[in-house]
Amino acid sequence: MKLWSGMLSGDLDNIAEELNSSIKVDKRLVFDDIKGSIAHVKMLEKTNILKSEEAETIINGLELINRKLKSGEIEVDESSEDIHTFIEATLINEIGDLGKKMHTARSRNDQVATDLKLNLRDECEIIENILKDYVKTLCLLAEKNTDSIMPGYTHLQAAQPVTFAHHLMAYTMMGLRDIDRIKDYKKRLNSSPLGACALAGTSYPIDREFSARELGFDSIMQNSMDAVSDRDYVLELESVLSIIAIHLSRLSEELIIWSSQPFGFVKIDDMYSTGSSIMPQKKNPDMAELLRSKPARVIGNMNQSFIMMKGIPLAYAKDMQEDKEAIFDSIDTVKISLKVMKGQMDTLTVNKDKMLRACKEGFLNATDVADYLVNKGLAFRDAHHISARLVKYATDNGITLEEIDLNTYKSESDLFEDDIYDNIDIVKCLNSRNSLGGPAKGEVKRQIDYVLDELKNS
Ligand code: ARG
Repeated sequence: MKLWSGMLSGDLDNIAEELNSSIKVDKRLVFDDIKGSIAHVKMLEKTNILKSEEAETIINGLELINRKLKSGEIEVDESSEDIHTFIEATLINEIGDLGKKMHTARSRNDQVATDLKLNLRDECEIIENILKDYVKTLCLLAEKNTDSIMPGYTHLQAAQPVTFAHHLMAYTMMGLRDIDRIKDYKKRLNSSPLGACALAGTSYPIDREFSARELGFDSIMQNSMDAVSDRDYVLELESVLSIIAIHLSRLSEELIIWSSQPFGFVKIDDMYSTGSSIMPQKKNPDMAELLRSKPARVIGNMNQSFIMMKGIPLAYAKDMQEDKEAIFDSIDTVKISLKVMKGQMDTLTVNKDKMLRACKEGFLNATDVADYLVNKGLAFRDAHHISARLVKYATDNGITLEEIDLNTYKSESDLFEDDIYDNIDIVKCLNSRNSLGGPAKGEVKRQIDYVLDELKNS
């Protein structure tokens, strides 16, 4: 028998029942549902809608169920329709008919929106902390690598020298913005739908501010139809999580590239690698590959939620029951991805020599050859051509720009003097790029301090 079965004849068709049921997914809201109900019943008592003894018995019953669920004495019954009907039925079972009064001045429509918001608020707290751990790990690795000069790439073609620290710090800035997005999101999330009832409020003298305060909401949703029918807080979190997953996937792809044989810049620890069942020499970056692929799932969930919401007339419609599976999956995916990435970066081995060699072989100081001539009065466009010809000469002869003799330099331009070698020294080239945000050692140290400070203050 369903709690709503009053005017309907007979039971749902078995297969329809299976389609209708959401308990396998929304059982995750079980403790939020109890919390929301306790706040609601306290409000009913405060407004004299329920007598004190009645409210007390109901609250005791809910607390008992809470304890029994936590201790494993009772389990969520998956043959229930959803978590709300399960808790209500369990309450009636525990305290008798009085339990039927709990649902006064409430509907499952405002109840489910409240439960989900409480749940997402807690999840955001957890994600924020995991994000901070991950960003801190990158900072610590960066601190050890302010001297690890590596090629910076554009189009995945060696461009100009940076350091491994500088590169990592780029990801910490993305991480800081991810943290900020979660914080900002929480401001809009934390508004109470409770008391909106089915869609049109109620004639009972409820006190929505009271129940909102009980549940730690900062405000109450001002329109009852909006309160039960929007899921923008799901869509927004899906979007924020998608961005986090994208950031992780880019770092993953770089780890895959950097750990491949032609690069050899880093070694991923065995804890995050797998072997091949047939090729003995293989060590595969499986975790990084999985993290590279996870945005497909998270963005898929986001798309699903957006499409699910599109065009639904106000107010509640059952379509929205489909919101939870997607958002829960994205939350779980992003949490595990961040933890794995943190572990992977914590244990990463960096090969400074390989990075430096790649800088020399990649002519990363070609811009500095041009800059040298510009400093001696030549127009940049002409200097660029001369530098390009020297790179071609070095390539043809299998040498680096540092290894070209002075006569050859002079044959391209008589502005070249002996000090050219000092000017194209990779370390000097790097440290001369000390503009704010640049890769020079001192500047990257400032960036590290900045991020560690932001983490401390956030
Ligand atoms: N399980 C439902 C959901 O997740 C709860 C709300 C049901 N409301 C209703 N009017 N059928 O959306």
